[in-house]
Amino acid sequence: MRIGIVQGDITTRDVDAIVNAANSSLLGGGGVDGAIHRAAGPELLEACRELRRTTLPHGLPVGAAVATPGFRLPVKWVIHTVGPNRHAGQTDPELLSSCFRESLAVAREIGAKSVAFPAISAGIYGWDAQEVAEVAFDAVSAYADSPGGAPDLVEFVLFSESTTAVFRSVFGG
Ligand code: APR
Repeated sequence: MRIGIVQGDITTRDVDAIVNAANSSLLGGGGVDGAIHRAAGPELLEACRELRRTTLPHGLPVGAAVATPGFRLPVKWVIHTVGPNRHAGQTDPELLSSCFRESLAVAREIGAKSVAFPAISAGIYGWDAQEVAEVAFDAVSAYADSPGGAPDLVEFVLFSESTTAVFRSVFGG
């Protein structure tokens, strides 16, 4: 499994799946959630509403992950996950680690061979980029060694220069 650290806009990445830092409602928001919904088009919100009407009537729990098609995005799938919100007292790194692990497990289920992650929880949800990078590094490294096949490529796509520098220092890139 190759790991890439990229500065840029995750909605432009040409991979099989991008991960969305969503909220439990799955009905859109700001940040990367807003950017992904804008780029994917209204069909994405409709697919999320369908999930709420069927398999996820109470929304997506923190640390869980679910896939939808990518619609107008260049990717086949969007994997939605909900990071812990530090402002709501959700400070357990295990919740954040679960976002990376569960998203990779969904990627394996759908057969995505290349997956791009944003810095989950490092924006509106108030987590420090350094801690997010360390949790991401541990979770993805552990997953790479697990049986059942990790993706060929995992990218971290960071919006700002400072977050990119933090991820590069943690991942040794
Ligand atoms: N591409 C890549 N990264 C992005 C993009 C983008 N287009 N837009 C924002 N980011 C970065 C932010 O700079 C931050 O480093 O993604 C990281 C995560 O920030 P948020 O999108 O705010 O996500 P999060 O902190 O997990 O908060 C989730 O925000 O957008 C709402 O609906 C969402 O309620 C949820 C909350």
